[in-house]
Amino acid sequence: VTQGRRVLGRTVGDVREQARKRIPNGLFEFIDRGSEDELAVANNLKAFDRVKLRPRVLVDVSERDTATTLFGHPVSMPLAIAPTGSAGLVWFEGQLAIARAAASAGVPFTLATRSLTSIEAIAESAGGDLWFQLYPSTPSARSLMQRAWKCGFEILVVTVDTPVSPLRHYNLENGFSLPFTPSVRALRDMLGHPRWLVGVLGRYLLRGGMPRFENLPGSPKVTRGAPTSEMLVGDFDWDDLQRLRERWPGRLVVKGMLHVRDAIRAVECGADGVIVSNHGGRNLDSSVSPLDVLRDIVEEIAGRATVLMDGGIRRGSDIVKVVALGASAGMVGRATLYGAAISGEDGAAHVLRILKEELSYTLAMTGSPTIADLGSEVLMP
Ligand SMILES: Cc1cc2nc3c(=O)[nH]c(=O)nc-3n(C[C@H](O)[C@H](O)[C@H](O)COP(=O)(O)O)c2cc1C
Repeated sequence: VTQGRRVLGRTVGDVREQARKRIPNGLFEFIDRGSEDELAVANNLKAFDRVKLRPRVLVDVSERDTATTLFGHPVSMPLAIAPTGSAGLVWFEGQLAIARAAASAGVPFTLATRSLTSIEAIAESAGGDLWFQLYPSTPSARSLMQRAWKCGFEILVVTVDTPVSPLRHYNLENGFSLPFTPSVRALRDMLGHPRWLVGVLGRYLLRGGMPRFENLPGSPKVTRGAPTSEMLVGDFDWDDLQRLRERWPGRLVVKGMLHVRDAIRAVECGADGVIVSNHGGRNLDSSVSPLDVLRDIVEEIAGRATVLMDGGIRRGSDIVKVVALGASAGMVGRATLYGAAISGEDGAAHVLRILKEELSYTLAMTGSPTIADLGSEVLMP
């Protein structure tokens, strides 16, 4: 696939390498890396390598269908876009770029609380199934929920896995913490990537200033002074979740759990779904991988709530593994960010196409013509 004169990578791994070259190094590290020793990021990927598929043969797979339903809505494949607050830094209006790609590809898009594009702008120009992610201790949480509901976001994704700010030292060193912290090193890094400087930062500046967290009223520019952890999850607890549940008229999904008992408790609080996730390995570095605990959680709450999983999905076969282990769908954070970083909406769409083609290929190889055919049958016990 060519974009202008450039050839877009054939795999998510290739697209990642292209993104590495395209955007400033500090920004690439911000989206790509983990916390502390980055064990969790590596382990999320290794967990997928450890799960092996056991194909059935002599099944007619000449026609395959990757479509399924998620929360009662048809989707083109069992995948949704996970919230990533910084998408607007890799591409001008990157949130919108990914949201549009998701709408065209027929998969839901989750808008992050700390997006650089507003809820209203996404609702107006993206289309498709829109979910809204909330850090529950955000001071304006109540009004954010009202705005999201009014704009047609049907699913509220409440992220609960960030009780304190994660330890990501390299961000401080390279100046690309979010909000952005100007430094000589960061400036040199940006000057070394003129296409990004002009095409992303330049366009924000032309439009009226540094990028902002558009959903947070009176939000500071994306500059020094990161919101404290207390503004993310802080002292929010199960009783608060219960109250939040009562206030939100749509479906509520709790994101960022790895413990069976927490998943059960979320369902008891009225959650319609849970996202088994360790925040892409960006928070607790010694965390288990979500894939490794997925089956236990599904066994406990399947039938009562929808189970989703994210962390480490880079291949269509990864989506097969997630579904075979019992989740209704996987979610991707970095994969579509890499795509958006190299070519905005086209790049994100390209990544979604790669994943769907690989998914279809793996369905064929495992003898599973449809998503409904994926079960423990194709897994090693
Ligand atoms: C750059 C970046 C920013 C993120 N921002 C948020 C966020 O604002 N809220 C949230 O709930 N999760 C956030 N996440 C976590 C993702 O929603 C998701 O859990 C994770 O990226 C999945 O792992 P993957 O990147 O390996 O697909 C972010 C992840 C990345 C990579």
